[in-house]
Order: sequence, then C-alpha cells, then structure tokens
Amino acid sequence: MNAPADLAKVIASQPDATLGYKTFTLGSFKFRRDEYFAHIEWTTRDDRPLSHTMDAGNYLRALMRDVAWGFFYGWVNFDHVIGTVNHYKTVDFFAGSYNATMKEAGVDRLENFPTEQIGETFKAMLDDWTNEGFDPFAAPQETGSPYGRKRGNNVAAITRARELATRCVGLKGDLDLRTDARGAPINRAFADVPQDQPELHPEPGFENEVHAFNLFAFLSRSQVTWNPSFTSVVKHSYMCPTTEEHILPIVHGNDRVEWFFQMCDEIHWDCAHKESGKPLARVIMKAGDMAAMPAYCRHQGYSPKRSMLLVWENGSPNLVYEIQKGEAPEVPVQF
Ligand code: PHB
Ligand code: FE
Repeated sequence: MNAPADLAKVIASQPDATLGYKTFTLGSFKFRRDEYFAHIEWTTRDDRPLSHTMDAGNYLRALMRDVAWGFFYGWVNFDHVIGTVNHYKTVDFFAGSYNATMKEAGVDRLENFPTEQIGETFKAMLDDWTNEGFDPFAAPQETGSPYGRKRGNNVAAITRARELATRCVGLKGDLDLRTDARGAPINRAFADVPQDQPELHPEPGFENEVHAFNLFAFLSRSQVTWNPSFTSVVKHSYMCPTTEEHILPIVHGNDRVEWFFQMCDEIHWDCAHKESGKPLARVIMKAGDMAAMPAYCRHQGYSPKRSMLLVWENGSPNLVYEIQKGEAPEVPVQF
C-alpha cells in the first residue's frame, strides 16, 4: 500500500529504564509491557480511563499472527476484550467492542487506522517485546520463555518469510520441498509419518509439467504452529494446511464461511457469536472429520498433540461485501 510516509510513523517511548521495553501509542490506545504482562490502556466512550491485561506470551503469539497474516480475514481477537478487524485498506483496533458486557456498560473503544500505520506499530512492538529465545510461532514446549526484563531479540523468528512457488512445487525451477535438503527436521510428534514421495509416470514430453509431492511429509517438518500456508490456489479457492499444537493464539471471527478438514489427531473448537462472544458450540474434530464455520461465529481451537489441519478459504475480495448485502450466505448449507 502506498501511504504517505508519516502515516507509518510509529509512536514509541524510550525504553523503560528498569524493564527495558518501549511503550507504544496507537491513536488513543497505549500499549505497555512488563515482565509478565502486556497492558492496553484507553479512555472509554463515556470518558473514563480503563485498561486490559494479557499474559505477555499469549499477547505476543496473537500479535505475531496478526502481523504475519496482514490482519487476516475479518476479526483477530487477541482474547475476549481486544483485537483487530480487517477492512482490507484500513484496520480497526478495538477494546471491548465485541464483548457484550463491556459494550452494554459503555466502556469499549474502537478506532480505525490505515493498514500501514497499525501494521508498522505492531511490527515495532513485536520486535521490541520479543526476547531472545522466545519464538511466538513455536509450540510452547518447543521454545524459551517470553517473560522477564528485555533480553536481546529474535528477529529471525518474527520475520520468517513465506516460501513462494511460481509454478508447481517440486517442478524444475520451483521450490524443492523434498525435505532433507531443506534442513527442516521431522517434528517429534510426526516421527511415524512416511516420508516416501509419490511415484510419477508422466507421458514422454510431459516430465516438466506433471508433478506431485507428499504433503504429509512436508507438514511433518513444519517448524511453526497455527500458521496456514497456501499450498494450492485455484481462482479464489485456497487450500491452507497447517500444523497445530496447544491453543490457536487468536480467536478468529471470519467475514466469510471457512472449512476445516482434520487430517490427523484432533482439535477441540470453542465457537461463539462473533459480535457478542456468547458461546454457540463445542466442536470435537477427529482425524477425517470436516466442519464449516459460519461467517457469524468466532472460533478458537485446542490441539492436545501436534496435528495436521487443512483450512479451506474462499479468498474472493468481493465475498465480504456480498455477504453484507445478503447476496452470499453466511452458512455453508441451508437445512
Ligand atoms: C482459523 O482461524 O480458522 C485458523 C487460523 C489458524 C490456523 C487454523 C485455523 O492455524
Ligand atoms: Fe478461522
């Protein structure tokens, strides 16, 4: 996005003399961290000071997803109080706006920002608040502690770039995912996943146009959790497999229907109403199960052991507006 340079200016304090962390300002919101917590402060709609506290590790895991996914589809709730809504050129940051109790009490606040401004602020905060040895994308058992006074940083972990294919993965001239060469070890939870590759028998002359690779072998070597990657894109149909362990660090409120295919092990989902947070359903997904999340819900998954999940999104840029106008459904099927 081409925004005027001053829109991207990040407002941050000098590091705190004792703790070492900077304090950040976004509109009228203030963000501060200490040894254990992130604190978000705002003025309520009726002009009273209010604050919210999150565990620093949980906050950084959520912030990492919001930054890496460019604010994702719709709502990224960091928890039951704060989060963002993506309007695709601008982004709302809110506190209490999608929490029925806080909204009724008039203590919520929502402000809208150009995507670049909130994006740069979040990136700077993630960089300053992430300590050496803590990887917000890693499963809790596979990384160090987020807590304590500021110690170094972890630039490599928070700036991972997606590997981009230009044709079909594995074809000559494209990414080679046949794994050993990439230096990505098999995850401890996937030691039993076969690593053999499919047999290919292209007709003569088509050797450079036909290809296949073992998706399970590829996923068994994923270094990150709760980070869907695009492995096939057909028009607006995006197949996004991912490996999951522990808790989805955000509560996602989608602005469209989204499908889940549980490819192994299991994930337990809590589903709630997107606007109010009122609980709607528990969905226990076991290997082979499929589910669709309607566009009016928010959802958060719990994966007791590392599992493989295929997230299927309709990435059409018009879909959110078609749903708003009632031209496209909020549910996958009408019974
Ligand atoms: C989701 O919000 O639907 C979601 C996000 C990340 C994942 C899986 C599901 O890894
Ligand atoms: Fe989702």
